[in-house]
Amino acid sequence: MVTCYDYSSARAVADSNIDCILVGDSLAMVMHGHPTTLSATTAMMALHTAAVARGAPAKFIVADLPFLSYRKGLKDAMDSVQELMSAGAHAVKLEGVRGHAAIVRHIVESGVPVMGHLGLTPQSINLLGGMKVQARTDAAVEILAGQAFELEEAGLKIPTIGIGAGPNVDGQVLVYQDVLGLNPGFKPKFLRVYANTFGVIQTALNAYDRDVKGGGFPSEGDSYDPQPASLQLGQAA
Ligand code: KIV
Repeated sequence: MVTCYDYSSARAVADSNIDCILVGDSLAMVMHGHPTTLSATTAMMALHTAAVARGAPAKFIVADLPFLSYRKGLKDAMDSVQELMSAGAHAVKLEGVRGHAAIVRHIVESGVPVMGHLGLTPQSINLLGGMKVQARTDAAVEILAGQAFELEEAGLKIPTIGIGAGPNVDGQVLVYQDVLGLNPGFKPKFLRVYANTFGVIQTALNAYDRDVKGGGFPSEGDSYDPQPASLQLGQAA
């Protein structure tokens, strides 16, 4: 699984072997430059989900329910779910379980698959005191496992997808831009960068700039044939 936020990236994922896409609320940071995911809104998530669905119509798409959207009562939560599903999601993801297990159950019983997100939950960054690895003690591991069982009781069947959680899970998710090396300063231990795309883009942009400024682009081969003299303005056809 990989995140994806826009049409052109979705086209690349569509032609890959990746099984499913997460339209993560991390798009608030990666695509919009916000410092946290708290700025994501349902409208923002729906816009990006629709673009991804157009680019990768055959992939299974999970869309994040954004900050507080499922903490203001059932009606608001279901309105957000509806907006994301109408935009092209096949499932929604939400963080934590404490205080909204009943909402998870209601979403599942409404026919919408739900993915739970436990551990480092960025929507609770202010409570966690930063983006810190979670469940580092036996007691914390037990709490995390308890939350997973709570989600299972709320109607989720749990295959587990990890990020920074090691190999003992059913699948992995990484952020598209991180996998492709588009975020060069970011190198946490859990991340494996599979290509230096940032460098490739810079090399291509500088080559283009050099060619334009040096007169090498456009060449005759990059240009349309000049209009035949007979068709030029003011002359008889
Ligand atoms: O929004 C996101 O990108 C996530 C990550 C855990 C992949 O939730």
